[in-house]
Amino acid sequence: QLKKTDAIPLLMNFLLNQENVLCRDPTTVAAKLRKMVIGGAGKTVVISDFDYTLSRFENEQGERLSTTHGVFDDNVMRLKPELGQKFIDLKAKYYPIEFSPKLTMEEKIPHMETWWGTSHGLIINEKFSKSTIEEFVRQSRIVFRDGAEDFIQSLDAHNIPLVIFSAGIGNIIEYFLQQKLGAIPRNTHFISNMILFDEEDKACAFSEPLIHTFCKNSSVIQKETSFFHEIAGRVNVILLGDSMGDIHMDVGVERDGPTLKVGYYNGSLEDTEAMEHYEQVYDIVLVRDPTFTVAQKIVDVIN
Ligand code: TMP
Repeated sequence: QLKKTDAIPLLMNFLLNQENVLCRDPTTVAAKLRKMVIGGAGKTVVISDFDYTLSRFENEQGERLSTTHGVFDDNVMRLKPELGQKFIDLKAKYYPIEFSPKLTMEEKIPHMETWWGTSHGLIINEKFSKSTIEEFVRQSRIVFRDGAEDFIQSLDAHNIPLVIFSAGIGNIIEYFLQQKLGAIPRNTHFISNMILFDEEDKACAFSEPLIHTFCKNSSVIQKETSFFHEIAGRVNVILLGDSMGDIHMDVGVERDGPTLKVGYYNGSLEDTEAMEHYEQVYDIVLVRDPTFTVAQKIVDVIN
């Protein structure tokens, strides 16, 4: 009789034979998978970043796609070029700082606070309405990684909670999911920056605490929310991210089970130092992979 754990060597074989998959320590990965398979869907929670993790980094032509904040860059540029340029200038200045190998996280944090603060200030000042932002999302260049839609639906079908932990803008993710999936699946929860609207449905503030790339950990998780009770017994975590800021997203989920960290490396193939760094902090690194195939295979062996 076949046991569920028999699928693990097959999955490991698949992973180790993929050219774009890096796995520094296959023994540890197999051991984590074993605990997760034994625990099953009922003990599992998925914590995922959104921008350039659930969403694609670039299209087939190699053109960069949009982040949730980027929805403003593109649409505002069309309607109010002067304001649009401000979003673009901010990104040109701060994005290289976010990913700079020369600066420490401590050195980057004040810059990230200024970037997010300024960007959110521009959104609030302009008093964008909810319907305008929904239309911006419809017109945006946010694209799911191939298979990410099915991945979200399959988690929902197996009652595995999905926590989307994003330093982007939560409302934009909500509108995107509503537009692409028809509704937000019951299993899906958000920890993100939320635009608050006044009685006329105009943007008037952002939720607090502010979440930027380097505070994605227990410091911004509000434990009283009902979904924390829902995930209380979920000791096994699949963490999906694309940056160094994503690797602590599981800190704050109280438990003693393993976290399997899957990292999407969207950077240059020439930058071997950066790839090695990803290999140190993520159990599995997917190099310039536009699909959700690996994450889906992991969930399939657990179910
Ligand atoms: P995350 O992927 O870790 O959730 O981070 C969100 C990304 O959003 C991060 O890479 C920086 C980016 N961003 C913009 O593109 N434009 C902005 O105005 C801001 C504040 C952030």
